[in-house]
Amino acid sequence: MKISIFLLCVLSLLSCQSLTPTAPRPEKAEYSEDHIPLEKWGRSPNCCTAQGGKAAVASGGTYASQAGIEMLKSGGNVVDAAVATAFVLAVERPHSAGLGGGGFMTLYLKGKKPQSQFIDFRETAPEKAHRDMYLDKQGEVIPDLSVIGPLSVATPGFVPGLYEIHKKFGKLPWRKLLTPAVELAFRGFKIYPSLAAHIEEKKECLLKDPQATKILFRDKSPLKEGDTLVQLDLANTLRRIAQNGSKEFKTGKTAQEIVRYMQQNQGILSLNDLKNYRVKYRAPISGQFKGWEMISAPPPSAGGVLILQMLKVLEGFPLEEISQNTPQYTHLLSEVLKRAYADRSHFVGDPEFVQVDFSKLTSDKYIEAIRKNISLTKATPSSEIKGGQLMEDKTHTTHLSVIDTEGNAVASTLTINDIFGSCVVAPGTGIFLNDEMDDFSAKPGASNIYGLTGDKANEIQPLKRPASSMSPTILIKAGVPVLSVGAAGGSRITTSVFQVILNDLFVFPGDLKKAVFAPRLHQQWMPEFLDLEKSYTESTKTYLESIGEKTRLAPWSAITQAVHLESDGKVRAVFDPRDEGGASAY
Ligand code: GLY
Repeated sequence: MKISIFLLCVLSLLSCQSLTPTAPRPEKAEYSEDHIPLEKWGRSPNCCTAQGGKAAVASGGTYASQAGIEMLKSGGNVVDAAVATAFVLAVERPHSAGLGGGGFMTLYLKGKKPQSQFIDFRETAPEKAHRDMYLDKQGEVIPDLSVIGPLSVATPGFVPGLYEIHKKFGKLPWRKLLTPAVELAFRGFKIYPSLAAHIEEKKECLLKDPQATKILFRDKSPLKEGDTLVQLDLANTLRRIAQNGSKEFKTGKTAQEIVRYMQQNQGILSLNDLKNYRVKYRAPISGQFKGWEMISAPPPSAGGVLILQMLKVLEGFPLEEISQNTPQYTHLLSEVLKRAYADRSHFVGDPEFVQVDFSKLTSDKYIEAIRKNISLTKATPSSEIKGGQLMEDKTHTTHLSVIDTEGNAVASTLTINDIFGSCVVAPGTGIFLNDEMDDFSAKPGASNIYGLTGDKANEIQPLKRPASSMSPTILIKAGVPVLSVGAAGGSRITTSVFQVILNDLFVFPGDLKKAVFAPRLHQQWMPEFLDLEKSYTESTKTYLESIGEKTRLAPWSAITQAVHLESDGKVRAVFDPRDEGGASAY
């Protein structure tokens, strides 16, 4: 019944082609969680969530989320919690994020003017970077140069970013915020399954770097699940940063060690780059959607503008009537994603270098045009949608979300790009340096490691920031932040954050655990696949294929973290069971 109402309403809104599907149309897809590797992680179905009366933190690390709650308990605010969590993530997830990388933070702070803030501490192309730096004399892309080794490293923004955020918005002393990270790096922790798998997967690249080898190998064998990972150099670096603040990363011993390494190994990152790094305060992308206000990441991220566009397109559909992930709903999302990602490919770059009016991409006129272009009974081939091409990606990066019951929220996504970044560690620092230069387009039409064929908007220029998918997002109702969410996983970040928002607000309203656990799809226009997690039923796949969708089993999934203020006034954190994570509350 619900489905028929849904279809009737949709068909009245759209000018669709009426095609008869060649397979029976299943009414609904059962909700199932068999895509979630609970057994592999040794987790019970009750895992991954925590509820509290005052505040909650979800992140990609158990110790990280605990550190956030520790700060709140000792009188800190949500920003203190986020900063402490971020530094512990740098220790607990050295393959995902850390001092050698950067990130974005979206804030909603009660009583502050403005209440919504966005801080960009993304990595930046060094002064000596230039458009053709990864091309040979024939103009061909030199394999791996933007991915592995010193030339792939962009100027990190993690330490200056979090230091400024602390100074501007935090309450607790800087040193206190870093204490849990310093202690964890000294003490060590047991290597969890996904970290062990990533060390194994990247061992060839890691073994090229003596410092990375020292940290992650014993007698040339990769550390394994259950081994203890102690990071003494990183602990000492963190201790110096606790003492000296961001100066340590601009001109201090840490900066000098990084630059010395670069000079000795044909890198271009200079002391000037570190000294002159600037944190950017930008207006978040904001918009209304079915009575909700959304704030999220603006360019150089594509995240916020795409999520807002996709939500606005769906606003024309009676989402409240959809109680399950039906095949028709799956197809509709796929069509919406294809069009958004075609736009992403074409338009997104650093706003200080590329003039694009992003408001056009979410204007009512444009949204209406997208709706009219979607058929509910036939998949549109990607070749019929205009734009560039998009990347295929792996899970990396990490996210943290915090909400308290006083009306404050943080969403922050942190990255060093690929797993273990450039595989480069400057001696004595313990820091895995990013390979964020690969998020630029090496040349028009050439694909990067994720399959991204770039556009002029995202070509390399000195001091420019590469396009990103990171989407730290906060949903607000009547002035109160209700949902803080974000994800890791390259181009899948945006589609996953979008689906968790839809799930939490409309598909499984108020059930954050289901919203995060539910099977997800991914469609990024090019390559033209509708990726479905394992739990989608055979009948759903048959139906989707019959109307022209090219489905495949999702090769990997994004990892989402979310916190929700529930209707009884309690706060719930849920971490994504698809990987390691932590949910803490009090
Ligand atoms: N490096 C991943 C992203 O920024 O999208």
